[in-house]
Amino acid sequence: MKLRRLLVTGAAGHVGRIARARLGHLAETLRLSDIAEMSPAGAGEEVIRCDLADREATFRLLEGCDGVIHLGGQPVEAAFDDILQANLLGLYNLYEAARKAGTKRILFASSNHVIGFHERTTRLDASAPLRPDSLYGVSKCFGEAVARLYWDKFGVESALVRIGSVLDAPKDHRMLATWLSPADFARLAEAVFRAPRLGCAIVYGASANDESWWDNSAAAFLGWRPQDNSEQFRAMLDAAGPPPPPEDPYNRWQGGGFATAGHFED
Ligand SMILES: NC(=O)c1ccc[n+]([C@@H]2O[C@H](COP(=O)([O-])OP(=O)(O)OC[C@H]3O[C@@H](n4cnc5c(N)ncnc54)[C@H](O)[C@@H]3O)[C@@H](O)[C@H]2O)c1
Repeated sequence: MKLRRLLVTGAAGHVGRIARARLGHLAETLRLSDIAEMSPAGAGEEVIRCDLADREATFRLLEGCDGVIHLGGQPVEAAFDDILQANLLGLYNLYEAARKAGTKRILFASSNHVIGFHERTTRLDASAPLRPDSLYGVSKCFGEAVARLYWDKFGVESALVRIGSVLDAPKDHRMLATWLSPADFARLAEAVFRAPRLGCAIVYGASANDESWWDNSAAAFLGWRPQDNSEQFRAMLDAAGPPPPPEDPYNRWQGGGFATAGHFED
């Protein structure tokens, strides 16, 4: 079923530009929003600048939207005050605005960093305990909790997509497991908005990589079939340099450098 108006937050960003290029067909109108400047609206598009930390502006932004791809926010570790604005306040404002506007369904860009302190030898499914590896990861846990509350209490459906690494190609050996191709991201968004029922589903956002730490069987009902595989890039990565030695703590945790980094505030 085609949406009436699909809002993409973070539309000026890396994944937002992928969504803009590949997902316009999901809705009659694509409403693109970011705190930063975006290129002008094309056919079937609306462009609205908005700081998600501004509650009233976010309420206006959601009016008339029946779906959201929520990408706007701080995408890596940062000072807590920066995370607070976009990923806590902004996230809350977005869900509250969705409730008020009667928005039915949200794809929330969560992150693998909500489970980054699980060891790579552990295969995780949707029931895995949260083990964030950073303040950034904690903020995504908050987002997942708000999404679940808004499903259980208000019936706003969400896909909690624990995105690995959306890139044209993996940049290091860790990303052989976490890589999500832009095409598979787009296929996932299509599945999320076409599913007859979504509820509040946890989805690990990775392509069909040979090396895999995640089990998406609880989200099989979505019918998402990732089609790309990072293995095609292994030889290129090997040629660029060896992976960190096995005893390197970087190799221990799923979150890689986020888990081994010092505390941002120090
Ligand atoms: N790129 C990945 O591989 C990856 C992996 C895991 C999770 N994610 C999540 O996906 C989302 C998009 O990531 P990205 O790589 O495109 O990051 P990005 O930084 O390129 O894009 C994020 C966008 O959010 C906007 N933004 C920041 N604060 C805002 C605010 N207060 N109000 C409105 N807009 C604001 C920024 O201007 C930016 O354009 C993020 O939420 C990120 O945490 C991405």
